[in-house]
Amino acid sequence: MECGAEMSDGAPLSDTEEALITLARSAMDSAHAPYSQFAVGAALWLKDGTIITGSNFENASYGLSLCAETVAIASANAQGRLRDVVAIAVTGGPMAGESRDVITPCGRCRQILKEAQDVIGRPIVILCAAPVGDAFKRFDLDYLLPDSFGPANLGIV
Ligand code: THU
Repeated sequence: MECGAEMSDGAPLSDTEEALITLARSAMDSAHAPYSQFAVGAALWLKDGTIITGSNFENASYGLSLCAETVAIASANAQGRLRDVVAIAVTGGPMAGESRDVITPCGRCRQILKEAQDVIGRPIVILCAAPVGDAFKRFDLDYLLPDSFGPANLGIV
């Protein structure tokens, strides 16, 4: 894979990826999103097959809201499993309705994923799938966050 390339090269979803998307969709049900009414679910695949999920967790002080991807990554870290993350599936859409649109991680989550990837030391597969239907995109982080800032810029390797 060329560095920085979008990984949506037409490769079909593997069974593992299909399962991961299903779990990300289920995590949408746990979203605490009374303000936006927009539910997001994320599911992490760990190298031993363990799944860790996250859902967006909004706050009455809107700017404090946490995204699903961030919750999932922080949860993996809290469980001492951050280094085992292989892939993340992300899906989300309005609570009312069955969206067929693919969403991609927000800018802050891309930076959070960058931190995780630097800790892990290998690329995380980022799988973005619609809540309903077959639409998906597979990315690597260099595509979503090119020329990114990270620990190396602070002299930390
Ligand atoms: N959201 C996520 O959970 N992940 C993203 O990457 C984009 C946005 C959440 C934040 C907020 O709770 C809702 O979606 C609407 O922005």
